Amino acid sequence: AEKGLKDYYKDYFSIGVAVNVRNTSGGDETELIKKEFNSITPENDMKMVSVHPSEHVWNWENADKIVDFAVKNGIKIRGHNLLWHTQVGAWMFKDSLTGQNVSKEVLLSRLKTHITTVVNRYKGKIYAWDVVNEAIDDKEDVFMRNSLWYQIAGDDFIPAAFTYAHEADPKVELYYNDYNESNPTKRDKIYKLVKSLLDKKIPITGIGLQCHWKVETPSTDDIRAAFAKYASLGVKLQVTELDVTVRRPTKPGETPDTIAAYTPEMSARQTARYKEIFEIFRENKKYLNNVTFWNVADRGSWLDGRNSLAGGAAATQAAPGQGPRPQGAPPAG
Ligand code: XIL
Repeated sequence: AEKGLKDYYKDYFSIGVAVNVRNTSGGDETELIKKEFNSITPENDMKMVSVHPSEHVWNWENADKIVDFAVKNGIKIRGHNLLWHTQVGAWMFKDSLTGQNVSKEVLLSRLKTHITTVVNRYKGKIYAWDVVNEAIDDKEDVFMRNSLWYQIAGDDFIPAAFTYAHEADPKVELYYNDYNESNPTKRDKIYKLVKSLLDKKIPITGIGLQCHWKVETPSTDDIRAAFAKYASLGVKLQVTELDVTVRRPTKPGETPDTIAAYTPEMSARQTARYKEIFEIFRENKKYLNNVTFWNVADRGSWLDGRNSLAGGAAATQAAPGQGPRPQGAPPAG
């Protein structure tokens, strides 16, 4: 078979991509995935609201389809994610009778049910989970994100989530996943959180660096510093959600609809940027075991149509009949 990215990188790390059922049920994108990638992450279909929309309702249809596709084609699967402040049903935090927030005990018991059920279902098929997603705040003087998880359970939901996942599948790799990972303030907080988990002997395999980047930022110095800092913990690292935004409004009054189409000049800048960041990834191959792109193509990118646009001819290349994309999460980083 013709070589793909995964083959060129076989001595470094696995190469992954975020997928939806539409990407994996036949057609050009399915062929492209089989050729280029040896790892996939469901973009939305394993999130809390997708598999567990209300307390006694479980919805496995899409997640199962993606898992079956991967298993059939010998592609590894990263699970994403077991806990996040968004894409979680409001029921999780509420008493169904009073509508008030539940107690910490009830919340952790619901979390345990959720994590145990999901991890068990895909035991032996999913090799790594993003256990806790984006729990740290971006602001200089605030450590934890003020989510309902935090408001109700304080810091304890984090070690609890890792412990539940490990109990359900002692062999699965468990990651803390976050964005702005190379920002000096944020990376220090991520380092501190993970160090405190390791010090307490909480089962955690490593750190997921989302890497939602732009052509201009972050600097290669900041990226190198982040890898060095995280690697100093002796944990595994994964690049979990890579994208490189190039096309975005730059002048006052410009909107996603009025800015210029993807130009050869933009394409060249984006290529050069990918080259420099993959150099950094290769330098870190001792710790870095996977690099995952967030979406198969610009036409399906979560950034298409947002104020901060994805790289590429997203708007102009959108193909008909690709199905709706989930909307409504806040932009990351
Ligand atoms: C995004 C998806 O790509 C979108 O389709 C969805 O509407 C919102 O979530 N950080 C994460 C991912 O960890 O789960 C997010 O994915 C992007 C930011």
